[in-house]
Amino acid sequence: MHQYSQGKNTTQGHKGIPEGHFEEEQGRKGFFGAVSHLIKERPSTRWTEIEGPLRPHLYDAIAMERRFGHWQKMLFNSDVGMYMYWEKKTTQPVNQAFRNADGDTLYFCHQGSGTILTEYGLLKFRKGHYINMPKCVTHSWIFDEESCFFVIESKTSSYREPDRGMVGRNAFYDPACFGKPQLEEQNQLLRTNSNLNVTIVNVKRSDAMTRFKYAENIYDTVSWKGDYFPMTIHVDDMMPMLSARVHLPPSAHTTFVANGFVVCTFLPRPLESDADALKVPFYHQNIDYDEVLFYHDGNFFSRDNLHAGMITLHPAGFPHGPHPKAVKGVNNKTHTDEYAVMVDTWQPLQSTSELETVEVHNYWASWMK
Ligand SMILES: [Fe+2]
Repeated sequence: MHQYSQGKNTTQGHKGIPEGHFEEEQGRKGFFGAVSHLIKERPSTRWTEIEGPLRPHLYDAIAMERRFGHWQKMLFNSDVGMYMYWEKKTTQPVNQAFRNADGDTLYFCHQGSGTILTEYGLLKFRKGHYINMPKCVTHSWIFDEESCFFVIESKTSSYREPDRGMVGRNAFYDPACFGKPQLEEQNQLLRTNSNLNVTIVNVKRSDAMTRFKYAENIYDTVSWKGDYFPMTIHVDDMMPMLSARVHLPPSAHTTFVANGFVVCTFLPRPLESDADALKVPFYHQNIDYDEVLFYHDGNFFSRDNLHAGMITLHPAGFPHGPHPKAVKGVNNKTHTDEYAVMVDTWQPLQSTSELETVEVHNYWASWMK
């Protein structure tokens, strides 16, 4: 499709919006594809009622009843599953391991810290780490404190790095920052800590568990080679891309790509400084994707009444944008200080009854005056 316009427009989206007007961006492929900007007298979030399944949702995931040691399923479709996962501080000997034969697992550490044993060596984690655990990689946890994860399970593909396009191979994180498994450190730990004797492997396939028992410790790798192994990346090693002149699309924050969905990380950054630049997250229709945001830390300035550990689900087909208060308050802000994980899914998501127990009702009405 070629560019076309009607009426009076600027030549750059998100800039020079006439006083008292609102811009709505309608975009394919998470605003990476075909996109148009409409200037309107009123935002499209001024509905008076929404009837049907496309109402947006807000869930207080951190308030879910905690079933320690279990992945608590929240949202899912045929490509992806999202879970909360709580564990208590490890005080007993570690004798069990977990292997996910249903897919690749991305753990995002919302709180806590510790060590993960794997057949490739150990990994360390703390709050703000993503842990990419490829399908069927056996692992055991040692928690230094009570820990909580937002778990994103990719059912049909590995996690891949995003296409970095014209910004080159070191944006918005340098692959050199990945935390890699340390085999010698692990073997040293196993030699000196008799509480680490893992003889049971619990394997998940089609959401059913199978238990394999062994007579000796399963972590006996003496060496390995290859391009299939677990790794970590911390939010502090991500350098958010920005333009001083104009708001960049969310695709600039893509962290991992998988079949049927992408994972983006929103991090603290300076706001646009051009006088006529739109600063708040704009009104938009993310035409192809159901949009999930996990609010990890900071001050979530574009929404009222949000706290860390909450999740929003904005289904495709529904226009949304900042809350009215955020639009008013943005002129006083020079930076965002929010940390959030976004999962954009191609197929519609379903929620579980467990997640629905912590739904904040009437979220859909929060844009209304
Ligand atoms: Fe959105």
